[in-house]
Amino acid sequence: MKITSDPYGIYREERIKKSGIREAFTPNSPILDIELFSGRKDEVAKIIECLNTKGQHILLYGDRGVGKSSLAKISCLILNHAGIANGQLYQKRCDSHDTFKSIVTSVLNSIGIESNTIAYESEKSVGFEKILHANKKSKASKEGNAVNSLSPSWVVEKIKDINGILLIDEFDVIAKASEKKKIAEMIKLLSDYGSSLTIFIVGIAETANILMGGHASVNRCLKEIKLGRMNKDELNEIIKKGEERTSIKFDAAVKKQIVALSSGYAHYTHLLALKAAEEAIAEERTNITKNDLRIAMQKAAGDAEGSLKQAYDNAIRSSRKKDEFKNIVIAAALCGDDEFRAVELRTQYEKFTGKAIAQNELNNYFAKLISRDDSCILKRLGTGVYRFTDPRMPSYVRIANNLAQAV
Ligand SMILES: Nc1ncnc2c1ncn2[C@@H]1O[C@H](COP(=O)(O)OP(=O)(O)O)[C@@H](O)[C@H]1O
Ligand SMILES: [Mg+2]
Repeated sequence: MKITSDPYGIYREERIKKSGIREAFTPNSPILDIELFSGRKDEVAKIIECLNTKGQHILLYGDRGVGKSSLAKISCLILNHAGIANGQLYQKRCDSHDTFKSIVTSVLNSIGIESNTIAYESEKSVGFEKILHANKKSKASKEGNAVNSLSPSWVVEKIKDINGILLIDEFDVIAKASEKKKIAEMIKLLSDYGSSLTIFIVGIAETANILMGGHASVNRCLKEIKLGRMNKDELNEIIKKGEERTSIKFDAAVKKQIVALSSGYAHYTHLLALKAAEEAIAEERTNITKNDLRIAMQKAAGDAEGSLKQAYDNAIRSSRKKDEFKNIVIAAALCGDDEFRAVELRTQYEKFTGKAIAQNELNNYFAKLISRDDSCILKRLGTGVYRFTDPRMPSYVRIANNLAQAV
């Protein structure tokens, strides 16, 4: 039956759903299927080696969206499939309220230590201080204290004989430094015992030291792995695996543009490939064209994470000079993905707009666009050297402004 009207996009949705494309390209969730995992061979090997070395724990860190969770989960899965790991995998995805106690509870529960024992142990170690202040404390603050009081040495005594991995993801969001410190203490103690329980910490950070809250004492037993962006071959592999999983084919020029627009972020490769493929599938085509990518770029910009969109909109918001701010941000995005100098920006500006801009004029705009901290869209790294504050921003700017040809 020929569909003449689809006001709610139901038929479109049906076709897209049936195609399986949303299982092949997953811009918003980590990869959990080994077959869909691309590249990162050296990193996987390094992680597996650590997971198989007693007393060696792992700290995997890097920018948001660079592929940390996927790498961590897939490495554990590969180890398991290879039959080398016979232990248990415990996974904890943290939020800001998580504490040492909430992170280790599932491990303790798994060896038969019930939550009420854990609660009792927490209460007990509050000890003297609690008795002293008992009359003054509200129930809430008593509980707060109890939560904070589970001791790493008590926990390690219980869990040190477990053979397994405790994967703690989004470690950076834990609000309390004291809770991170307890994790660091637990790692050190497990190492001292030569325990077969490996702690695998994953989080966003520029340096390992920031992520661990400066607890240098764990350095010796914590293998630090910094995860960078993916290279072009690895991103190409993502598209290829998506093609193999479904029956769609991307034109060679489209693949090249998706890879270039992604700037090393698998998130954008998945997002653009998915949106472009959806356009083709909706029209019952199996080949994906440049026109599909053009539409995909508009949709991808609309779907981008709120914080990116907001930072971009704030930067180009201006009563009179909106186009100028926008042109300067675009010129910066065309400078590449890393740091750039004002002279490079002026060259890109001239290429893009067809007119030159003097340095002193540029400085007027820089006042609103650049800061030394993370509060503006651009960051000053040193004299005359700049970078986008959010490393994903150059891709976003190029996608939002339909600059596939320019990359
Ligand atoms: N090695 C990989 N192969 C294929 N896709 C990947 C790979 N690493 C990450 N991705 C994709 O990139 C996006 C971000 O990955 P994720 O692991 O969630 O990053 P992070 O934890 O660093 O924020 C997800 O869409 C994920 O599917
Ligand atoms: Mg993650």
